[in-house]
Amino acid sequence: MKNVVVIGMQWGDEGKGKVVDLIAPHFDIVARYQGGHNAGHTVIINGERHVLHLVPSGIMHEGKMCVIGNGVVVDPLELLKEIKEIEARGVKVDGRLLVSSRAHLIWPYHRALEKANEEHRGENKVGTTLRGIGPCYEDKSARRGIRAGDLLYPELLRDKLSANIADANTLLKAKGASVLDAVSVSESVVEQANQIAPMVADTAVYLNAQIKAGKNILFEGAQGTMLDVDHGTYPFVTSSNGTSGGAATGTGVPPNHITDVLGIMKAYTTRVGSGPFPTELFDATGELLRERGHEYGASTGRPRRCGWFDAVVGRYAVAINGVTTIAVMKMDVLDTLAELKICTAYRYKGVDLTEIPHDASILEMVEPVYETFPGWQSSTVGITSYEELPEKARAYLDRLSELVGCQIDLISTGPDRVETIIRDGSRLKQWMQN
Ligand code: IMP
Repeated sequence: MKNVVVIGMQWGDEGKGKVVDLIAPHFDIVARYQGGHNAGHTVIINGERHVLHLVPSGIMHEGKMCVIGNGVVVDPLELLKEIKEIEARGVKVDGRLLVSSRAHLIWPYHRALEKANEEHRGENKVGTTLRGIGPCYEDKSARRGIRAGDLLYPELLRDKLSANIADANTLLKAKGASVLDAVSVSESVVEQANQIAPMVADTAVYLNAQIKAGKNILFEGAQGTMLDVDHGTYPFVTSSNGTSGGAATGTGVPPNHITDVLGIMKAYTTRVGSGPFPTELFDATGELLRERGHEYGASTGRPRRCGWFDAVVGRYAVAINGVTTIAVMKMDVLDTLAELKICTAYRYKGVDLTEIPHDASILEMVEPVYETFPGWQSSTVGITSYEELPEKARAYLDRLSELVGCQIDLISTGPDRVETIIRDGSRLKQWMQN
C-alpha cells in the first residue's frame, strides 16, 4: 500500500504542483481534498507553463484518474472553464475526472458576500482571493450548502438556491452591497453547472474500492500548514484543513490507509494576503527573492511577501502533519546571496519562543532570532545530483533538515520537471522505483 499526502509546510505556494506532477506517474489516482480554485498549482512541462486551480495536477499524466474529494469547494463554472483549457492543450479529461457528490458548490452569491465582507473589514481584511471560498465553507458548516450531488435534482437545487440567495441578499443589503437576482442566477448558472453532473460520483466509495484493489493514491493538498483554518495564523487563514488530517476527512479514505506525508517547503518563505509573517523582509533582499523567485500569485497575480526561512514554522509543520520526507523548492533562487539567515526562535518581551503562539497579534510582534550562513554564490540551476551542489548549499540544507527534524529527499533547482535532485537511497526514490 502506498498512499501519500503532499502538503505545504508554509503559507502555500511552496511548489506542490511541480512535485505532484513529478511523482504522479508512480501512483494510480491523484485526489484533491480541500480548498478550491483559490489554489494555483503551476506545472512546467518542456518549458510550457500550466496553472491548475481545481483539477488535480495528475491530469497532465495520461491514464491517471483524478478525484475532487468531498472536502473541496467547487465553482462549477470555473471547473468547466479549467477543463476546457486543459483539453485545449490536447490533454484528455473526459472519463478521467470524478467530483464527489458531497463536495460543496460555490455560487455567485458566495463571491458577492466575500467581497462585501472584506470591504467591511477594512484594515482587518484577510486579503482573500475573493473566489467565494470562505462563504461556501460557511454554508457547509451552517448546514445549508448545496452539493455537487444536488445537481442530479435540478428542481430541488433551484429551490435551495433561491432560499440561499434570499438570505445572502439580506446580508448584502445590510452591508450596502448590491443584491443578486435569484431568477437570473438560477437560469444561467444552474444550466451550465449541470454539465458537471456526469462527473459526480461517490468518490469515497470509489477511492476505498481502488485501495482494496491495490491501487495507490496521491493526495494533493492545497494552500499550506500556516493557512490551515485550525492550525494556521488564524484568522489570517483559508477556510479549510490543508494539513494532512484533511486528506482523510476530505476524501473519506481513513487515516490508517495513509502511508506517508511528503512536506513541501521553499528554501525561503513567502506569503500572500494579510497576516503575521515574522521573517518578512522589506529590503533589497526581499525584493531580490521576489524577482529571482518570480513570486507573484499563480491565481491572482498579487506580489508575494518574501522572507528568510523560518525553522519554527518548519518544525511545527513536521509535527502537525506527521511529515515523513521533505522536498525543498527553489534552492537556486538563493544562488546569488552573500549571506543567508534561518530563523530558529521568536523573541517576545525578552523571552525566546520555540513554538508558534496561537495569537496572531503576538506573532505580529515577535522578533526573529537568526542563525547566519555564508552564501554559495554559484549557480545551482538544473543540478540533478546532491553531490554536485556547492558545499555551502549542502551545509544550508543539512541545517534546515536538522532544525525542522526530518530528512530532505528532494531539492528543486529550477521550475522544470528535470531540474530536480532526488537523493539516492531516499524514501522518495523508493516510491519512484516501486
Ligand atoms: P481564501 O482562501 O481565498 O479565503 O484566502 C484566505 C487566505 O489564504 C489569503 O491570505 C489568501 O491569500 C491565502 N491563500 C488562499 N489560497 C492560497 C494559495 O493557493 N496559495 C497561497 N495563499 C493562498
